[in-house]
Amino acid sequence: MKQVLSCIQPTGKLHLGRYFGAVKNWVDLQSSYDCIYGIVDLHAMTMPYSPKKLREASWELIYNLIASGIEKENIFVQSMIPEHGELAWILGTVCSYGELSRMTQFKDKTQQVKDTDKDAFVSAGLFTYPVLQAADILIYNADYVPVGKDQEQHLELTRNIAQRFNHVVGKEYFVSPETLFTEVPKVMSTADPTIKMSASKGEKHFIDLFGDDARIIKQIKSAVTDAGDQAPGTMSPGIENLFSLLKACGGANYDSLLESYNKGELRYGDFKMEVAQAVVDLVKPMRERLEDIKANKKDIKYAIKQSTAEIRKKAMKTLSEVKELTGIMQTAKNI
Ligand code: TRP
Repeated sequence: MKQVLSCIQPTGKLHLGRYFGAVKNWVDLQSSYDCIYGIVDLHAMTMPYSPKKLREASWELIYNLIASGIEKENIFVQSMIPEHGELAWILGTVCSYGELSRMTQFKDKTQQVKDTDKDAFVSAGLFTYPVLQAADILIYNADYVPVGKDQEQHLELTRNIAQRFNHVVGKEYFVSPETLFTEVPKVMSTADPTIKMSASKGEKHFIDLFGDDARIIKQIKSAVTDAGDQAPGTMSPGIENLFSLLKACGGANYDSLLESYNKGELRYGDFKMEVAQAVVDLVKPMRERLEDIKANKKDIKYAIKQSTAEIRKKAMKTLSEVKELTGIMQTAKNI
């Protein structure tokens, strides 16, 4: 079976945008591929962060992912597999300064650091972030990496790093990972449908996947629609967003509601209630599962340590082979 790998940073809440944009796809892929998903806490340290909150955020995200349908066995925690960091060092030697300077995420985040806190500094970790990402991918010989379009540049860099490594050691060792783009609905903020739903923009700009029903209903009821002067045959960003949310949730009345809209007969109040109901129906079982998970935190933590240890075996094998190929020292070779 082909190896699928993706990772997520333990920052921010799991909201509808992140669920439909990534996590749901990861859940579905599990039935067709050998999937592993990493909680990349080392990456989360590249932006100003709180040491008090990091570990708790990682566990919280793990609980959320399991409640969303990710199998425990498929989850690993990056910092519990020290081989990632070690491979990143080696890969950093076959990646150029120029390539890293061209990464748009680096430029964006540099700007973000400067905008949010003038005393904060742009860390070297933020600069070398894509090298660690390449290590995450190559250490498991991933065939497919499901990510959003914003990560394409990092994937391209990963392929360059793999090729350059192969060239240096004189062996076609690493396979070139392919980006797995899938059609995902773009979920916008209901309070401002011109920007993407995001936890960093403030409370009203995201709908918590595990929020309570009343709050979800309230947020959707107050969603921005249009001023009633929309040109025939067009749709405002707000209405479009509500329709795509409804569709993403598998809302059964999608077609008939769209027909009403096209005839100019859609009553927005009723429409919003339909959307809110579809979201509530989707998240309710997940929220219940999360409650169960939280009642058994100890078992879950134990299971994740086990799954990480199991997944680590692959990483250890790769790193050992890499050390052989590069000629650096190895302690034990009995793995
Ligand atoms: N950079 C990715 C993001 O911001 C997270 C990430 C880290 C990742 N390592 C990865 C994604 C490896 C895919 C594969 O979303």
